Order: sequence, then structure tokens, then C-alpha cells
Amino acid sequence: MRVLGIESSCDETAAAVVDEHGNVLSDVVRSQIALHAPYGGVVPELASRDHMRAAVPVIREALAQASLEVGDLDGVAATARPGLAGALLVGLQVGKGLAWSRDLPFVAVDHLVGHLLAAFLRRPDAPEPPAYPFVALLASGGHTALYRVDGHRPSEIRELGATRDDAAGEAYDKVAKLLGLGYPGGPVVDRLAATGDPARFPLPPPMARRDSLEFSFSGLKSVVARRVAEQGASRDATWVADVCAAFQSAVVGSLVGKAVRAAGQEGVDTLVLAGGVAANRGLRARAGEACAKAGLRLVVPPFASCTDNAAMIAYAGALRLAAGERDGLDAPVVTRTVLPRVTRKGGGARV
Ligand code: KG4
Ligand code: ZN
Repeated sequence: MRVLGIESSCDETAAAVVDEHGNVLSDVVRSQIALHAPYGGVVPELASRDHMRAAVPVIREALAQASLEVGDLDGVAATARPGLAGALLVGLQVGKGLAWSRDLPFVAVDHLVGHLLAAFLRRPDAPEPPAYPFVALLASGGHTALYRVDGHRPSEIRELGATRDDAAGEAYDKVAKLLGLGYPGGPVVDRLAATGDPARFPLPPPMARRDSLEFSFSGLKSVVARRVAEQGASRDATWVADVCAAFQSAVVGSLVGKAVRAAGQEGVDTLVLAGGVAANRGLRARAGEACAKAGLRLVVPPFASCTDNAAMIAYAGALRLAAGERDGLDAPVVTRTVLPRVTRKGGGARV
């Protein structure tokens, strides 16, 4: 079953063709980073307008890469939630139009389900996929949460805990902006952190309470803002690198500590990383050490599967289409995820 996936929830216009076994026949991602960089973050109106320009060319390219015509497809899947409303509308409506014009089955996909299933995509550099059940840490520019994943259906995925404020990637981007390092901030802060001394400005991992699986990153960002204001013009490259190292150590400590705790609480033997922050070298290293110590298998998908892409949307859609599921062409855009949450006494997420 060859399924076209379309992704436009934030600042990537993406299209891909994938089958229900996770084989990636094509994968095209057109990033809007250069468009938003001058503003230090994504500007929703600009994002929607750029998706309008890019959607059809990107889909054409995905079909051409797979050497397919629209008529060769067995279905269409498009991201319908969560994300920027105006951005989601573009990809969802293009997908529905294409499905309607060729009488193809259509499914509306939750972007977060796509991220959580990205570890199953078969790419040349991908590790062996995980087995259900597993715990996944999804950390990106828009989301940071822990999930228990028992299967591919939204009803088989439970949120165990999420950030109370900023997403981890968002905190990286804001800290980079405070330090004048450009957008997006994750890669550059990661690089500088590797050269800095985290002990010069020690920052405790936030929300380290034993039983909580929630995250909070806005306090760290405020501490960095205060340090920047106090230091003024006298900051040099070493100072910036040391701040990056301290910030990264606190973020990574929080993400890894809670992810390993969640796997223990859920009694699973595998931890999967997902989202753009999974590219972080400090996170990969610390997660590797902690998982080895806890006897957990760590699955880190290749970067192309972690960041926003349409292959993960096509795959999540292909599994549902292969099971005979369909969504109507009146499927709405929803700006928040509808994945259920687990309420845990003394921790977990609130309903
Ligand atoms: O998954 P993604 O491509 O898009 C969203 O759904 O948000 O994630 C992008 C985010 C950005 O905030 C970016 O700064 C962050 O991932 N990121 C990183 C690294 N590479 C990208 N954060 C920390 N370390 C990195 N190496
Ligand atoms: Zn994403």
C-alpha cells in the first residue's frame, strides 16, 4: 500500500510516499527556517502563506522521487493536529482535495502519533525498530512529553507527563536568542555546550521531584536572561559556552532522568527518542549512559526521522488505511493533540 503523507503543521512543508511496512519510497522536506530566522521564531501568518506556495511543488517532487503518478497511490494521509491552525489547513486541504479528485481513501493524522511512530521508518541508517510496548520521549520545538506506546492507534498511546510551559526545543531557541546565537538555537547551543564548563554556573535539572513526570523549562530560560543582563557587554566566548553547557546539562538531566523513570514506572524495556531535540549530542550521550545503567534498550532514529517530516505522517496513515480505517473529507483541523493523558497520584499530567 503506497500512501502519500503531507505535513504542514509548523514551519516545514513536507510530502513523502511510504508503505505500511515503513519503507520510505520518497521523503521531501522544505524548511522555512530562512523565512522565520530574522524574527527569532516561527511567524504563523508567514508560515501559512509559504505552505500555500510550496505544497503542490513538494508533493510533485515526492511523487517524482518515488517514480509514481497520483493514480498509483493507494491513499492520502495529512496532518490535522496539533499545530498552527492556518498552517495545518493548507496541507490538510490539499490532501483532501487530492483524495477527492482521485477517489482515494483519506486519513487525518495526529502529528504527535507520527513522531512517536517515526522509529519504525525503514531508512538506510535506521536502527532496528522498537517492539511494543515502549516509552517515548518526544522533545521538539513545539512539544515535550513522555508517552507509553502500546500500538500505533491513538487509543493505544498515553501521555504520561508533559511540559508545564516551554517545550525543550523552544527553550533552546529562546536561550540562543538571549545569547545572540541565531535561530534555530538547538544545534548551536549543543555545539557550544560541548566546549563549555557546566560547573561554572551550576543549574539544577528542573522539576526533579521523585514522582513527577512533568517538565518545566521556562525557569531555566529566566535564569539565563538574568545572567545575560548581569554580565552585560563583558561576556566573551568562554562565558557563552559555559552558560550553554550549564543550560544543556540541566535540560538533558531533566529529560533523561524523567524518561528513564517513566520506563521504570511503566515496566517497559525500551526507550525511544523522538523530535528535533533528539539530535542533541548531550541528550544522546546521557540517554545512552542512563539506559545502559537501567538495563533499557535505547532507540534513537536517524535525524531525518526525528525532525518534522511527512514520512512519519504517511506511515501512521498507512497503518490505519491498511486496517481499513478512513476519515471523512470533513475532518477538522484541531490545534491541540487529542491523545489521552494518564492521571497519576502525585505526578503525571493533569487531565
Ligand atoms: O521536531 P522539530 O524539527 O520541529 C518541531 O516540531 O518543533 O524540532 C525543532 C526543534 C527546534 O527548537 C531546534 O532548536 C531543536 O529542535 N533542535 C535541537 C537540536 N537540533 C534541533 N535542540 C537541541 N539540540 C540540538 N542538536
Ligand atoms: Zn514536530
